[in-house]
Amino acid sequence: MKVSFKDLGLVNTREMFAKAVKGGYAIPAFNFNNMEQLQAIIQAAAETKSPVILQVSKGARNYANQTLLRYMAQGAVEYAKELGWKKPQIVLHLDHGDSYELCKSCVDFGFSSVMIDGSALPYDENVALSRKVVNYAHKYDVTVEAELGVLAGVEDEVSSEASHYTKPEDVIDFVKKTKCDSLAISIGTSHGAYKFKPEQCTRDPKTGKLVPPPLAFDVLKAIEKKLPGFPIVLHGSSSVPQEYVDIINAHGGKLPDAIGIPEEQLRKAAKSAVCKINIDSDSRLAMTAAIRQHFDEFPGHFDPRQYLKPAREEMKKMYIHKIINVLGSNGKAR
Ligand code: G3H
Ligand code: 13P
Ligand code: ZN
Repeated sequence: MKVSFKDLGLVNTREMFAKAVKGGYAIPAFNFNNMEQLQAIIQAAAETKSPVILQVSKGARNYANQTLLRYMAQGAVEYAKELGWKKPQIVLHLDHGDSYELCKSCVDFGFSSVMIDGSALPYDENVALSRKVVNYAHKYDVTVEAELGVLAGVEDEVSSEASHYTKPEDVIDFVKKTKCDSLAISIGTSHGAYKFKPEQCTRDPKTGKLVPPPLAFDVLKAIEKKLPGFPIVLHGSSSVPQEYVDIINAHGGKLPDAIGIPEEQLRKAAKSAVCKINIDSDSRLAMTAAIRQHFDEFPGHFDPRQYLKPAREEMKKMYIHKIINVLGSNGKAR
């Protein structure tokens, strides 16, 4: 039986993105895999009145089950209302969909937005696959994100050896042919907590910390010029906060030279046509830092609620910080 996202109280990305591009801010797209992450995301969005995109990756579906995650998102809408958010603007989005069949099943199952990631395919195949997904999704008013250009980085389910920036000369043709609603581009971000190799970075002489190379804002600008006002998406946009890495390493973890995208660069991107910023790794780091610290401080604790509660609080703090201080989406969904 088919279910429309509209019956679940979810919204698609169309209006949200149009407002974000115009308003010079970006919508947070947070991945979720479990209840604590979802609670933290919804509490943060409800408190700040920020539109929010809940993303489900292939890894999340393998870990938690797609059916359960969808019902959790449906529950999240009711939970948001219970928290006093009168008109929650929550999108349920398939992250890195890799086939037409998967995207179709998510559309049929109540997702309000899907990504078809054909970025590793030859250009014409990417166009054909993305177009096919758009044709189906649009029948049900589900919005579609497609991708051009390749992000580097290694994740459980998303990996590539090297990045290839999006070619600005391709974007008009791609968007025209696919009719996608938003376009994920490659301008130097990548997935995971090790976004740059130390040899790509310089070292701050004062702190000894690695300083990553800047994002390719010239490429972003050229794309914006070709597609004025068209919604652009940035994947791999975790900042890998040094304080989390330090806490993890101080409490038995081992994350040498973990490095992310500096927040000031994301702030700058959010003010442009970039209207969706994907963050997953920072949530993993917040959770791990809080749990490692808790275990060190309370070796006698064995009730998961004892350590998952501070983990949830830390994630919520991090989400609120992103919404207010990086993306600027607070107050945009009253
Ligand atoms: O795009 C990658 C996301 O961080 C999801 O990763 O497949 O390991 O859940 P995952
Ligand atoms: P990060 O690994 O930088 O959090 O990126 C997540 C992402 O792009 C999900 O699609
Ligand atoms: Zn991604």
